[in-house]
Amino acid sequence: CGIIGYVDRSGNPAVLDVLDTGLSSLAYRGYDSAGVALADDDLTVIKRTGEVDALTEALATVAPDDVSAGIGHTRWSTHGPPSDANAHPHTDCTGEVAVVHNGIIENYETLKAELTQQGHVFESETDTEVIPHLIEEALDRGGDRMSAFRDAIDRLTGSHAVVAAFADGHGLFATRRDSPLVVGLGDDGYYLASDVPAFVEYTDRVSYLDDGEFVRVTSDGVTVTDSEGTEIDKSVSTIDWDPEDAEKGGYEQYMLKEITEQPRALRKCLRGRVDEEAEQVSLDLELERESVDRIHLLACGSSYHAALYGAQLFRARGIPAQTFLASEYGDRALAGDTPLVIGVTQSGETADTLGALRAAQAAGAETLTITNTVGSSAARECDHALFVRAGPEIGVAATKTFANQQTALHLLALWLGGGDADPSHIAALRAIPEQVQSILDDDSAREVAAELVDSAAYFFIGRGPQHPIALEGALKLKEISYEHAEGFAAGELKHGPIALVTTETPIIAMVTGDDERARKTVGNVKEVQARGAPVVAVTDGKANVEQYAQHVLSVPETEPEIAALLANVQLQLLAYWIARDMGRPIDKPRNLAKSVTVE
Ligand code: G6P
Repeated sequence: CGIIGYVDRSGNPAVLDVLDTGLSSLAYRGYDSAGVALADDDLTVIKRTGEVDALTEALATVAPDDVSAGIGHTRWSTHGPPSDANAHPHTDCTGEVAVVHNGIIENYETLKAELTQQGHVFESETDTEVIPHLIEEALDRGGDRMSAFRDAIDRLTGSHAVVAAFADGHGLFATRRDSPLVVGLGDDGYYLASDVPAFVEYTDRVSYLDDGEFVRVTSDGVTVTDSEGTEIDKSVSTIDWDPEDAEKGGYEQYMLKEITEQPRALRKCLRGRVDEEAEQVSLDLELERESVDRIHLLACGSSYHAALYGAQLFRARGIPAQTFLASEYGDRALAGDTPLVIGVTQSGETADTLGALRAAQAAGAETLTITNTVGSSAARECDHALFVRAGPEIGVAATKTFANQQTALHLLALWLGGGDADPSHIAALRAIPEQVQSILDDDSAREVAAELVDSAAYFFIGRGPQHPIALEGALKLKEISYEHAEGFAAGELKHGPIALVTTETPIIAMVTGDDERARKTVGNVKEVQARGAPVVAVTDGKANVEQYAQHVLSVPETEPEIAALLANVQLQLLAYWIARDMGRPIDKPRNLAKSVTVE
């Protein structure tokens, strides 16, 4: 879910615009319903099922003159289906307080039963609705607004980022635990949001809240206190995102824009980290490389595929490395010498990944995150952070963040392996942005997509570094096209999945280089071709796979590990064009959210 709050201090209130813009920018965090509460003498709550556009239309009828503060929310359902009633903000019985929430309140059923007994009437099926009622109870007991807010929050177990607004202009009250919340400090007003893109066009000055901190925002200023109520002097950072980076810039979808931005994003990832003359990789990490003798990588979704790829790079340099789905890691005992635990997460806020990282820390492991988000929970909680520098990614399907994760993992593997690399490898790394550009300049994926679009299912195969790419290619296609797509290790196809292969199921095979792996994959291609399946070869042409393929997507020649990054760009384009031909809502696929902050 995405949260935005705004308190105007300019006297020329633009509250509606700020909330609307903020929610549109946060839609990647969930988009099944949205709502706002506008505070003046009263609270006006407006909520709509569906995407933020439905809310924007409703807001067009509101006269914004007296509104000096407001809160907004875009939802990714956890408790109760998308509906107007389940959309946030939620209010108490009196309509004096409205609340938006991200996270899960684990004890909400108990609290709801207790409140119902006290006479509170609930209108939604959400866990969130207990919060305004708890605040109302605490106010009835005679506390001031901040102490009522604190009392209510104290009753909650689970995770939350919460912002509350009160009638008759008392500013906003907010807090977080295991769910992100950031304060923006602008000349015209103050912002509270789940993530920086929500207000980046208004201010670049931010302050990141920590777990257990409370904040009160009024037109006079921002006051942050700890869980005991003692005031805290928070540091203010300046973010270096260009607001235009978060806008579509003439592209039909963010996803296409972000695919196209990859050469620039990759250059940023490499900048200052690869010294061609010294043939060295240098990373700004205070990690004792000599102490790293084994690695666990934890991640979800696309980041898990990047982690699988990274593990191969570490192993190739003699460092034992294992990859785990973060949601499956929690109970795993870190027996023996604790490994370096690396959490790969573009958002730095994925609850499953944070949970696993915390379990590793509790077991004494040193942790490092590879993330795109400076100031994210992962970046702040881990011992070390390596930033992938992809810039804001709004399309729900990860594209440039994935390529940059691959590159950052590659740099880390070289660095942990001693920093030296042979000159041809260093040159190959430096050539990635330009080679990606050459793929973007090629129209083949669009043409192949048009040929394949009505297929029954799509299977992706690859070996070695191309295996995680087969998984990622299939995930990308299924996410945005809703078609059945699966990725397999090329050698594994014959052990079961080949039973699914027909003339209606294209096989997308990554065959790069001409080593043993490539030759074996060509063998697997022949097996499916013999069964009539159309083959799409993603290849640099070295293994002569073209003769068995109906379609070819070319990638430039490079080192085998880097070929897996290049092949993925062709798969991004293929998925994009298939989904586009099918008229899918590419940036916001059904049921998905870019950053999933619940376990
Ligand atoms: C969500 C997104 C995926 C993403 C995964 C992990 O499920 O829909 O695209 O790969 O979270 O996100 P992270 O921010 O941890 O990389």
